[in-house]
Amino acid sequence: MAKSSSSFVCANCGARHKKWAGNCDACGEWNTISEDVPLSSGPTRGTLGGVRGRQIPLSDLATNETPPPRTRSRMEELDRVLGGGLVPASAVLVGGDPGIGKSTLLLQAAASFANSGMSCVYVSGEEATAQVRMRAQRLGLADAPVRLASETNLRDILTTLDAERPDLAIIDSIQTMWSDTVDSAPGSVSQVRAASHELTQFAKQRNTAVILVGHVTKEGQIAGPRVVEHMVDTVLYFEGERGHQFRILRAVKNRFGPADEIGVFEMTGEGLAEVANPSALFLSDRDRPAPGSVVFAGIEGTRPVLVEFQALVAPSSLSQPRRSVVGWDSGRLSMVLAVLEARCGISFAGLDVYLNVAGGMRISEPAADLAVAAALLSAREDAALPADCVVFGELSLSGALRPVGQTENRLKEAQKLGFTAAIAPDGSKISGDSGLSVRKIADLTGFVGEVFGA
Ligand code: TYD
Ligand code: MG
Repeated sequence: MAKSSSSFVCANCGARHKKWAGNCDACGEWNTISEDVPLSSGPTRGTLGGVRGRQIPLSDLATNETPPPRTRSRMEELDRVLGGGLVPASAVLVGGDPGIGKSTLLLQAAASFANSGMSCVYVSGEEATAQVRMRAQRLGLADAPVRLASETNLRDILTTLDAERPDLAIIDSIQTMWSDTVDSAPGSVSQVRAASHELTQFAKQRNTAVILVGHVTKEGQIAGPRVVEHMVDTVLYFEGERGHQFRILRAVKNRFGPADEIGVFEMTGEGLAEVANPSALFLSDRDRPAPGSVVFAGIEGTRPVLVEFQALVAPSSLSQPRRSVVGWDSGRLSMVLAVLEARCGISFAGLDVYLNVAGGMRISEPAADLAVAAALLSAREDAALPADCVVFGELSLSGALRPVGQTENRLKEAQKLGFTAAIAPDGSKISGDSGLSVRKIADLTGFVGEVFGA
């Protein structure tokens, strides 16, 4: 058998390379390739190695049993993102920027799960047990029946967990874990991958749910948990703008529930508080109509959320005017600007454009296209939309507006928050009375004509 000669791996996509390079030709990322140390030398010559595994016909697995009960933490926002509670023996990765509040979230989760009757172990590789206890005290959780450990040696951790057999083990963080089967520093791709692999295997074999914490940096400098994403059942990202107190826990992959589900939290002096009605929170003070501000009726996962898009358009002194976006995709902003120019003849040349989603929320739905176009037009014309109106619809390159899913849920949420009117694409399915006066519009030219009288 040929000796494996590829010994460099990309932290972003996991592709293997024979040589080191600054740029990964599989995913295009820069500075993500580092040396990889193989876990073992593989089977000896002439044999396939290993023992014969057991095969089970799929039909034999069919039983009348209900799926294993999930455990709910009674932190509603967390349970929803997990798909209705924590599945036994599952492996969950919680990723996020350093300092965003992952340790706080998981300490609170550990206490909640423990109070729901699970045996929980919280292993910190970053803080001493005394520090974790101090944090728990600050969070008012010092009495929770959670066992703490401060350890980074993976072998010791697995031996301890094997003896204790807890229902849930939290590993904070995977970058600090060190496995003696791999000859490289903690935090390297090889170490992160080996430690995650061993911990997920442990979860499946010993029926212990494992939650791994992973740091991601914007530069992808440390071994990102991207490599780990393939191994685990559920990947959650904890996001938020540093300056804002709101934090979003988002499911990006979930074998046991819907992806794209979000949970909303607020960072307070006493830890993370759940936010049951995020719409009210993402809307800034809206007593008077303001030019450039448009409320988008969005759907995040299974939940309708109203958010405010704010645009500012100002004459530019630069040869290449600024396009600055916070909370939305900059490529999509360019598309909306191009459609406005090509289909409606409204040019933003020579103008700086700033677009912001209020409250530190990130929106990725294409249904926000129309709200963005409306905010841009409103800022450019210095004409405000009515303050009691929500907008949604996807924009195609021809300038036509396409209906989007869950129209009724969007309208219901808007009505609940006191809005009285909506602008939606032609063809949106609305059965019965939504309680709002809905204006249906076929294309962007029609929108400009109706709303701005151009
Ligand atoms: P932490 O959970 O340590 O972040 P991570 O594990 O993701 O690195 O949280 C760090 C920040 O949270 C820190 O800057 C302080 C803030 N914080 C509060 O505002 N209130 C609190 O009750 C706690 C525990 C932390
Ligand atoms: Mg931490």
